[in-house]
Amino acid sequence: MTEKTSETEDSVAFEVEGGIAWVRFNRPAKRNSMSPTLNRRMMQVLDELEFRDDVGVLVLSGDGAAWSAGMDLKEYFRETEAKGLGAVRKAQSEAYGWWRRLRWYRVPTIAMVNGWCFGGGYGPLFACDLAFAADEAQFALSEINWGILPGGGATKVVVDLLSMRDAMYHALTGELIDGRKAAAWKLVNESVPLSDLKARVAEVAGVLLKKNPVALKATKDAIRRVAEMTYDNAEDYLVRAQEAANSFDNEGRKEGIRQFIDEKSYKPGLGAYDKAR
Ligand code: COA
Repeated sequence: MTEKTSETEDSVAFEVEGGIAWVRFNRPAKRNSMSPTLNRRMMQVLDELEFRDDVGVLVLSGDGAAWSAGMDLKEYFRETEAKGLGAVRKAQSEAYGWWRRLRWYRVPTIAMVNGWCFGGGYGPLFACDLAFAADEAQFALSEINWGILPGGGATKVVVDLLSMRDAMYHALTGELIDGRKAAAWKLVNESVPLSDLKARVAEVAGVLLKKNPVALKATKDAIRRVAEMTYDNAEDYLVRAQEAANSFDNEGRKEGIRQFIDEKSYKPGLGAYDKAR
């Protein structure tokens, strides 16, 4: 997983290095706002990367001062609305489509929020399994400031992640919060100084790259799925999800048990088994 490849085209850039796909919103002059062109290109990039053998984790960040300033008010809203309802629905499905794709991506995904994160940006933020922000990053549901409700799933994101009081305050006031507050509110896992952000994300990605990839996919899906289930339904789903995962990778699980019980070379409570053996 050491080969390095890179490409920049149409508002999305990416490199693959050491098992990590570093994907970036790449419209810094427009603060990485999401235009229909960006949304289409991002879906292509996700397609290209998802089943590559050299990709074990995907990190989504932004070039320049922004992570993403949300939907492009000119190209996504004004110009698309001028073309009629069909164009609006198409633009919506292109945007929501790649966020959905990311929510159920084959490999774990990490949002690395380096700067501005507004409105529609909460869709891909939530789609990523983990999120790390710079202390200096600024987040807001700014929709209220220009006269709409937080659509595109943004309202659902804050209701799922924040307390009802914080979600309500955030959506009604449109006020900015920085990375530290976003971490305190659990909108992101952690915030660190911008100068340390990439190293911290690489460290977390490195932890994930050591784990069994079939178990990672089963686990990330389970976390999202069981959130909507009763306890009994979750218990049943998890039995079936584990059995399905076993049929993809029974050997990995057996090797994990073998290294602990027979070889005594690691302790599952303290770290991962050596999947290279
Ligand atoms: N949609 C379309 N264009 C956007 C944009 C957006 N969401 N965010 C920024 N841009 C464009 C600006 O129009 C400007 O374009 P121009 O150079 O052609 O005039 C360029 O990006 C730079 O933006 P600017 O406002 O000058 O940068 P800034 O660093 O002073 O401020 C922001 C950054 C993010 C605070 C500010 O651009 C902003 O408020 N953006 C809108 C955020 C928002 O409410 N998004 C919600 C969408 S749901």
